[in-house]
Amino acid sequence: MSLDKKTALVTGAARGIGLSIASRLAADGARVAVLDLDAEAGRAAASKIGAGTMAIAADVTKTSEVESAVSRVVEQWGRLDILVNNAGITGRSVPIWELSDEDWRRVIDVDLTSVFLCCRAAVKVMLGQGAGRIINIASIAGKEGNPTLVPYSTAKAGVIGLTKALAKEVCTRGILVHAVAPAVIDTELLQQMEKSTVDLLVSKIPMGPAACELRAEAICEWAERAGVSRSWSGPWPRNHRPPCPRPSPRAPAAPGRPS
Ligand SMILES: NC(=O)c1ccc[n+]([C@@H]2O[C@H](COP(=O)([O-])OP(=O)(O)OC[C@H]3O[C@@H](n4cnc5c(N)ncnc54)[C@H](O)[C@@H]3O)[C@@H](O)[C@H]2O)c1
Repeated sequence: MSLDKKTALVTGAARGIGLSIASRLAADGARVAVLDLDAEAGRAAASKIGAGTMAIAADVTKTSEVESAVSRVVEQWGRLDILVNNAGITGRSVPIWELSDEDWRRVIDVDLTSVFLCCRAAVKVMLGQGAGRIINIASIAGKEGNPTLVPYSTAKAGVIGLTKALAKEVCTRGILVHAVAPAVIDTELLQQMEKSTVDLLVSKIPMGPAACELRAEAICEWAERAGVSRSWSGPWPRNHRPPCPRPSPRAPAAPGRPS
């Protein structure tokens, strides 16, 4: 797919899945902003990806930092075509009775509130352009609910709900919103969890640990399955208004049956 002249902002892109996504977008021709809380690793990632890549040190839980990150992209490149909400943490993997209020709030802030903040800032720009793509990195935890990961599972279920609601708000304005829900990928994120939790999650994967290797191609496969790459590589709609499905006319009620 060609993303020539497109611009992208990827959060949590200093390492792991975010770095793979940012690298792939850049390889496909996009100018990419690598946003991360870890300023040094973010700068290193941006220079590794290559020329035309911008590093932004920011905390996605802070409204002002998110808004100035989006403004920086627009000031530098004139537009924001793609937002990937990838920054995330699992938090400690412990049962609910061992969780503090702070454990709960931090995971909800980093994994869910951040997606709201970034989507809100980006959508304001994308509405003006009449075009945009948003990909939220959720998790199988948000679909299945993982024991010892109550805040994380809750936040990721929230990301899936946010994605569905926002997609319906903006799909007639040229903005498509998708979520991807990976299972276990071998990144530094796994170090935040107890080994017993990671082992349990891996044991649920039919292909086992072999399926957990971090591969950029795999991420693109997920995106393709979600219909993301098809929409990226197809015509880039400007003020595109796909027809809304209309309810089919009701069949007349059979005699004697309530309508
Ligand atoms: N690795 C997995 O098994 C897995 C599975 C399902 C979903 N995910 C999701 O994929 C995403 C990326 O995970 P990963 O495995 O690459 O993790 P990772 O720990 O390797 O990378 C996460 C990045 O996010 C950054 N980050 C954390 N808090 C931030 C903040 N407040 N502001 C800005 N940046 C921040 C970190 O500095 C780090 O560079 C996360 O949302 C995660 O929940 C991962």
